[in-house]
Amino acid sequence: MRTILINGESHDVDVPDDMPLLWVLRDILGLTGTKYGCGIAQCGACTVHVAGQPARACQLPVSLVGDRPVTTIEAIGQTALGQRVQEAWLEEQVIQCGYCQSGQIMAATALLQTTPAPSDDDIDDAMSGNICRCGTYVRIRAAIHKAASNA
Ligand code: FES
Ligand code: FES
Repeated sequence: MRTILINGESHDVDVPDDMPLLWVLRDILGLTGTKYGCGIAQCGACTVHVAGQPARACQLPVSLVGDRPVTTIEAIGQTALGQRVQEAWLEEQVIQCGYCQSGQIMAATALLQTTPAPSDDDIDDAMSGNICRCGTYVRIRAAIHKAASNA
């Protein structure tokens, strides 16, 4: 049994040490907003924040999370920045099929936490690990600029 802190709440979970955080979130805790894409840290669909840093939950064993707080898409809107990013996403109508988008929003929010006014190059660098099969990249970039300018 271990205790993990997800979205400000402690959860006692009885899972193997090597279970990826993504499985704990989705299958044990029912937090299905974080998506499974590739399972090998290549697509970004499973991006969450661990102690404020973006992390690929599909390749992060739960034992390595320790007592660091985890934030998922379900709670990112509870911060002023996360809310701004989500509003910009809606205003720019970024979402197409939606599958990659929780990971995109988590990556974008992490970028804006460290770089409040990113250039196109900053955005492309930070978001390059988040794949969108629908090709929403141009709208993602516009939404990040909008969220930055609405600060
Ligand atoms: S599912 Fe984790 S990076 Fe693709
Ligand atoms: S919106 Fe469909 S995969 Fe990105």
